[in-house]
Amino acid sequence: MNEKKDTIILAFESSCDETSVALVRNGAQVLAQSTATQIQSHQRFGGVVPEVASRHHIEQIIGCLDDVFQQTGLGYTDLAAVAVTYGPGLVGALLVGVSAVKAVAFAHNLPLVPVNHMAGHIYAARYTAPIEFPAMALLVSGGHTELVYMPQENDYQIIGETRDDACGEAFDKIGRVLGINYPAGKEIDELAHQGKDTFNFPRAMEKEDNYDFSFSGLKSAFINTVHHADQIGTKLSHADLAASFEQSVVDVLAEKTVRALHNFPVKQLILAGGVAANSGLRTRLEKECAQIQGVDLLEAPLKYCGDNAAMIGAAGYVGFKHGNRAGMTLNAEPGLEFPWLSV
Ligand code: KG4
Ligand code: ZN
Repeated sequence: MNEKKDTIILAFESSCDETSVALVRNGAQVLAQSTATQIQSHQRFGGVVPEVASRHHIEQIIGCLDDVFQQTGLGYTDLAAVAVTYGPGLVGALLVGVSAVKAVAFAHNLPLVPVNHMAGHIYAARYTAPIEFPAMALLVSGGHTELVYMPQENDYQIIGETRDDACGEAFDKIGRVLGINYPAGKEIDELAHQGKDTFNFPRAMEKEDNYDFSFSGLKSAFINTVHHADQIGTKLSHADLAASFEQSVVDVLAEKTVRALHNFPVKQLILAGGVAANSGLRTRLEKECAQIQGVDLLEAPLKYCGDNAAMIGAAGYVGFKHGNRAGMTLNAEPGLEFPWLSV
């Protein structure tokens, strides 16, 4: 066997609507990434259609795989391991990545590292700077909203999560009411900058002594406001609606996160997931962290906030070092979750 100085991992991501393959060196450098997005196919349905997603992944995954080898000139003998997202996500979509990675691992006799998609989102921040422990992660995506405590490397413990809608899901649903295409987060964020918080929507669970969130009441308040205005023939400012919605989301996320930072001995707050691209949230957490001694804010680079295989390669490297391995029986786990911290 070759003596390899670097640990190069081939990573696969196919949990939702992006097919992505990456080659990552030592969990910290993206050598190549190839991503095929399906967003346009799902837009006319206003959300991801699982069967359509699976079919696209099957069509795209081999092309992405060939592409990363072509971009780098590397081959299978250069690899230390392969890694894949095996959950959480859409079962049919996950199965495409899992089947592909098993074929590669079997054919080339490579170790297979199973990766939790949410660990991937956290490790997207590794492309900004090394993660220091203990750390806290605020994970905000289309499917999840959770606070995760990491006392040490490879150790993820949920301390709070949304009781209903995920934060990104709420952005997408209210976007629909404003006639904005799925996924609506980025456009609402831009619109919010042109408006003011004039509606003062509810801040659910903001003062409760826990680390949980709720966005369904905010979503309903927003939709009722717009529908009521339609009924009485009043025109509301979309910019003010967007600004008011975003301010409510940012307030509750910041309040619970700051509470966690005061109660856990952490060195870093990691902001990760698709909604981590939100500029209002970034600005607010930058201000909050500047006031908490000893806590640095680590934000994933914008290009790695959404789903991608580079983040799976970074988390896969950590799993690889710690001996996380799967065999040919690896299956998709759509409901995969980190363990809860028992207090
Ligand atoms: O992490 P992600 O790419 O996919 C999941 O794993 O769910 O997150 C996608 C979500 C979508 O709901 C999208 O609307 C939201 O991230 N998003 C944003 C922004 N950019 C993407 N939400 C708020 N502000 C943004 N700038
Ligand atoms: Zn994701």
